[in-house]
Amino acid sequence: MAASKTFSMKLLFSLLISSFAIIRMATAGDPDILSDYIVPPNVTVVDGNFFTFTGMRSLLGAGPPTAFKASKASMAEFPALNGQSISMDVLQFPAGSISPPHTRVRATGLLFLIAGTLEVGFVDTTNKLFTQTLQTGDMFIFPKGLVHFQYNAGSTPAVAVAAFGSANAGLVSLPNTLFNTSIDDNVLALSFKTDVATIQRLKAGLTPKPRG
Ligand SMILES: *[C@@H]1O[C@H](CO)[C@@H](O)[C@H](O)[C@H]1NC(C)=O
Ligand SMILES: *[C@@H]1O[C@H](CO)[C@@H](O)[C@H](O)[C@H]1NC(C)=O
Repeated sequence: MAASKTFSMKLLFSLLISSFAIIRMATAGDPDILSDYIVPPNVTVVDGNFFTFTGMRSLLGAGPPTAFKASKASMAEFPALNGQSISMDVLQFPAGSISPPHTRVRATGLLFLIAGTLEVGFVDTTNKLFTQTLQTGDMFIFPKGLVHFQYNAGSTPAVAVAAFGSANAGLVSLPNTLFNTSIDDNVLALSFKTDVATIQRLKAGLTPKPRG
């Protein structure tokens, strides 16, 4: 009970702090719009509720997840973000869990660690790796489009808030893109300088198992 209350306080605190970061990030992002905001065609009532996202309420007081969990507030979940160059994820990392290597093709990411410790890293276009062990309270920036990852190597859960400079940051997961699509096995085997059997094993690990 006490632990979940502390977690709730941390989450609230982080959301407050991240709003400052968001204001800065909003200066570089999606193209400017020619109106104050964009209302989707199927929305008829525009009031305070349209500009409010309540989807993170369920995280407060809920127990920690058993696997890595990203709760999103992007344009899809929160339509008022359309045209505002901003979105946000709350990331929960049980001990030992990972956010596999991925990029966000349209946005820089600013990660703020609000609980635990977290290994983070990205690789730049010269193939140089930058890593850090973040402590609670630290921020780390993932430059737009570069491949990056997060890993909770600690023994306690980690929680982070990530702000993105786009309403639709465009997540590309490398394992999923490479090994969970129909890219020809030979193309992948040649690319990774391995054999088709190895590629098929990698693919099998990511493909949902048939039921029945
Ligand atoms: C508008 O359409 C979107 C996409 O189909 C849907 O998610 C949303 O709930 C709709 N909003 C309203 C107010 O009907
Ligand atoms: C692989 O793709 C399927 C279908 O798009 C999806 O349901 C599944 O979650 C993906 N697997 C992973 C590990 O992302």
